Amino acid sequence: MGRAAVCVHGASHHERRPRLFVGKRGSGPGPGGVSVARGRFLTLEGGEGGGKTTQRARLVAALRQRGLEVVETREPGGAPGAEAVRRLLVEGTPDRWDARTEALLHAAARRDHLVRTVWPALERGAWVVSDRFADSTRAYQGAGHGLPLADLEALHAFVCGGFQPDLTLILDLPVAEGLARARGRAGAEQRYEQFDRDFHERVRQGFLDLAREAGGRCRVIDARADVESVHHRLLALVLAAFPDADVAL
Ligand SMILES: Nc1ncnc2c1ncn2[C@@H]1O[C@H](COP(=O)(O)OP(=O)(O)OP(=O)(O)O)[C@@H](O)[C@H]1O
Ligand SMILES: [Mg+2]
Repeated sequence: MGRAAVCVHGASHHERRPRLFVGKRGSGPGPGGVSVARGRFLTLEGGEGGGKTTQRARLVAALRQRGLEVVETREPGGAPGAEAVRRLLVEGTPDRWDARTEALLHAAARRDHLVRTVWPALERGAWVVSDRFADSTRAYQGAGHGLPLADLEALHAFVCGGFQPDLTLILDLPVAEGLARARGRAGAEQRYEQFDRDFHERVRQGFLDLAREAGGRCRVIDARADVESVHHRLLALVLAAFPDADVAL
């Protein structure tokens, strides 16, 4: 049980909920060609240290146990070119980029990630679980840095077209708790953590606002609980949103 079963599920989803990514391969913003069997795109979002990376691994393992082909990825990054751009964004000092340059770098990395990794995986029927995606741009560069949302939406349309995750799980916790957790990790990827406390409060609020506005696509999860409890909550939300995944075993 694996790929073949996944494609069957993908095809049945497609029949019920046709996708509209019709266009010449490589020309438009969306995945090229008429969509056939298509997997699901799940994103984990939230501020620093909410447990996105921890929970992505747990969620991916649980979905794979159900026989699904799952691609585990992240932003910025998720493709060789996008990973090179990642280093420009997550390393160095906060003032390394002005807000617009930062938004453009995220946009370039996102486009590469979509074209090289996300869309090909979805087109072959795999599920994709991404640690951050476009909602982070709205929260960080929009709410955090104060860039106009209309500009970010135009940039989003240029990069993604109408493409959106099927489900977005937002891990929410108080800023101080998240920063303390994030600082516990070693490594050079500390740039965003160094922005001031108010910035991170705006980011948190930005995610909560967009969860309300995006309606059905987003779920907010209280990330203060222990790793195991958060995992069970996330998995329950995913299985409730996509009941077919639960019978894939
Ligand atoms: N529910 C939890 N309770 C306590 N500690 C946790 C929990 N989830 C994750 N952690 C720990 O907190 C730290 C940050 O977790 P993780 O790296 O998964 O967060 P993140 O959201 O990916 O952070 P960032 O946004 O900085 O990438 C890690 O050391 C992790 O082990
Ligand atoms: Mg992380």
